[in-house]
Amino acid sequence: MIRLFRATNFRCLKKAELELGPRFNLISGANASGKTSFLEALAYLGRGKSFRGASTSNLLRHGETEFVLFGEVEHAKGTIAVGVRNGRDGLEVRIGGESAPGAAALAEALPLQVIDPEVHNLIAGGPELRRRFLDWVAFHVEHDHLMMWRRFRRTLKQRNAALKARATEATIRSWNTEFLELAGQLDVSRRRVLARTLNSLQEHGRLLLETELGFEYQQGWARDRKLKDALEGGLERDLLLGATQSGPHRADIRVVYDDRQARKLVSRGQQKLLASAMILAATETAQAALEKPLLLLLDDPAAELDTESIARLMSAVAALGCQVVATSLEPGALDFAEKPRMFHVEQGHITPAG
Ligand SMILES: Nc1ncnc2c1ncn2[C@@H]1O[C@H](COP(=O)(O)OP(=O)(O)OP(=O)(O)O)[C@@H](O)[C@H]1O
Ligand SMILES: [Mg+2]
Repeated sequence: MIRLFRATNFRCLKKAELELGPRFNLISGANASGKTSFLEALAYLGRGKSFRGASTSNLLRHGETEFVLFGEVEHAKGTIAVGVRNGRDGLEVRIGGESAPGAAALAEALPLQVIDPEVHNLIAGGPELRRRFLDWVAFHVEHDHLMMWRRFRRTLKQRNAALKARATEATIRSWNTEFLELAGQLDVSRRRVLARTLNSLQEHGRLLLETELGFEYQQGWARDRKLKDALEGGLERDLLLGATQSGPHRADIRVVYDDRQARKLVSRGQQKLLASAMILAATETAQAALEKPLLLLLDDPAAELDTESIARLMSAVAALGCQVVATSLEPGALDFAEKPRMFHVEQGHITPAG
């Protein structure tokens, strides 16, 4: 849980500093006042990147050459200082006063999830977001997942480089053993994680949409085939396309709503609720494994939802017991289970309110 947070020269925030409450925090302000920028800064401290996909140069306050973010994060054992600086010299991370290797260290120090107006893409968009969703849970609940994933990605790159260079079939096949071993491990890990998250996914489906949702892991190659055979059978196509077409890098989660594929069926508001159900389930699962409350950022959660849906979302959020930082245009627009700590933002200046 993060208590003190400071952002300097990040987007429109020249210098923002505030003391966050342990449960609910609400930042309100007019359009373009800096609400999303503030959440983006908070998320950057836990991810080392922008949830809006912005580059460093877009995040730097106009005319500045570096931004600095700092937080005091409370753990069971005490408080730890987490700092990030980015600018000309690239990303620099400090945790507990020492230089740390980067984004993975930040994710461990300040695990967080975001529900923003783009969250529906988790349902409506391509498989990459759903893979990332699953890998995020896996990172927090499976000890080796990140290392395994990195090794797999390296092997995939090397195999793809050989394909692009039109290497001999023997050279390409020489990558297969390692590829298959790591792919198999990744597949098992992801399936285990989805199974572990499933109850919470379905429960949140019932809470938010009053329906039974299904979540099927699609492994990234033909269902009834061994990956080894898919690789062999696909060699010609791989050579033609210069990239490996079968493997866990092509995996997806098929979300089933009323027996049909959700992305083809549901309305935009339903997509948002469905995606939110997934984010809340991921948060709950990681929280249980890490045995600490995570940080949940809600950027304008009321957008696109009717009154009843907002109330359902907010009560599901409250039931998680995580630390929440939400934004809204009007201070009274959201119902929290207890009075939130309130802040007002105007032209990039954040001040405590009410
Ligand atoms: N790098 C930057 N430097 C300075 N200002 C920036 C930078 N990037 C964005 N801004 C400005 O910051 C302001 C706040 O943007 P932000 O998206 O945080 O607003 P918001 O309060 O979330 O608005 P909305 O209610 O419309 O979502 C905008 O006027 C935007 O143009
Ligand atoms: Mg905004």
